[in-house]
Amino acid sequence: MMRPLLGILMTLAAMGASAEESAAVKYRQHTMEAVGGHMQAAVAIVKGEVDHKSDLSVHAAGLAGLSGIAPGLFGADAKGGDALPAIWDDSKAFQERLDAFRTAAVDFDAAVTSGAMEKIGPALGALGKACKACHDDFKKD
Ligand code: HEC
Repeated sequence: MMRPLLGILMTLAAMGASAEESAAVKYRQHTMEAVGGHMQAAVAIVKGEVDHKSDLSVHAAGLAGLSGIAPGLFGADAKGGDALPAIWDDSKAFQERLDAFRTAAVDFDAAVTSGAMEKIGPALGALGKACKACHDDFKKD
C-alpha cells in the first residue's frame, strides 16, 4: 500500500521542482520578449516606417530599464530554455555582454532624450550589435 503512495508523492515533488525552474526561465523569456518588442518598435520609428516619434522615448526608457534588470535573469535557478550553459560556465565573458548591453541601452536612451537625430540612429545600431553579440555566443539558434 505504501509504495504507490510514495511514488505519487515523489512524482509530485519532482513536478514542483521543475515547475519552479521553468517559472524562472519563463520569466526571463517574457522579459526578453519585452526587450524584443521595444527594440522592434524603436527600429520601426527610427526607420520612419511608422509615424510615432513621440513614442520613442517610452521605448528607449523601457530598453534602458530592462537592461538594468537583465543581470538578474540568469541566476542558477534559471538554467535552461534557449540559454546556453556557457552563461554559467564562462560568466566573465557573459558579464561583459551584459555590461555592453547596459551601456548601449543607456546611451540610446540618452540620445533619444537629447533629441539629437544624428545620434539616435547610430546608438540604435550599437544597441542592436550588443543584442547580437550576446545571442551569438550565449543563446541557442
Ligand atoms: C547578455 C546576453 C543577452 C543580451 C545582451 C540580449 N539577449 Fe536576448 N536573449 C538572451 C538569451 C540567453 C535568450 C534565451 C532566453 C531563454 O530561452 O530562456 C534571449 C532571448 C531573446 C528573445 C526570445 C525570447 C523568448 O521568447 O524566448 C528575444 C526576442 C530577445 N532575446 C531579444 C533581445 C534584444 C532585442 C536584445 C537587445 C536589445 C537582446 N535580446 C539582448 C541573451 C541576451
